Amino acid sequence: MIVHGKEFEAYISYESILERTNQIADRINLDYAGKRPLFLGVLNGVFMFAADLMKGITLPAEISFIKLSSYQGTTSTENIKELIGLKENIKDKDIIIIEDIIDTGETIFHVIKKLQELGPRSVEIATLLLKPEVFNKNISIKYVGFKIPHKFVIGYGLDYDGQGRNLKDIYQIKEL
Ligand code: IMP
Ligand code: MG
Repeated sequence: MIVHGKEFEAYISYESILERTNQIADRINLDYAGKRPLFLGVLNGVFMFAADLMKGITLPAEISFIKLSSYQGTTSTENIKELIGLKENIKDKDIIIIEDIIDTGETIFHVIKKLQELGPRSVEIATLLLKPEVFNKNISIKYVGFKIPHKFVIGYGLDYDGQGRNLKDIYQIKEL
């Protein structure tokens, strides 16, 4: 498949994504038994993962979304913008941030820093994808769907300059 002139190939099927997502949901259900966590999805990329993950959550959970856009093209920029959209009072709450992908960790680092200022009881992260070769932050990521190499991926919410978010499966860039 060609997107913006670059070639991508099938990488992770929706079936595999769903299987792994349900395992993570089960894990969270056990870890947070007796609690009422507030899930905070980081838009835009997380919309599909958040939807599938939440279907597996049996806790009396809440879900809300925040936005923090920092990405242009196929490389991460250090230029981080503000966190917007948080209406909930998160003081003394158990927060689970949901992400589609963690690359350098710059974005998630910034989100956590902002949230910590608001006095939550706990903050953990659930990300569908992690690129361990580039992740360079000293943050523990409790729930990881798939560890992937440092190659650009699209689909299942992830875009390449606005394209590809609607693809059901995940595709990886084909490099020479
Ligand atoms: P980080 O701040 O470097 O961790 O980058 C995180 C953000 O970069 C994600 O929320 C995505 O929006 C974007 N991103 C990083 N890698 C990819 C990729 O392979 N495909 C699409 N978006 C990506
Ligand atoms: Mg994202």
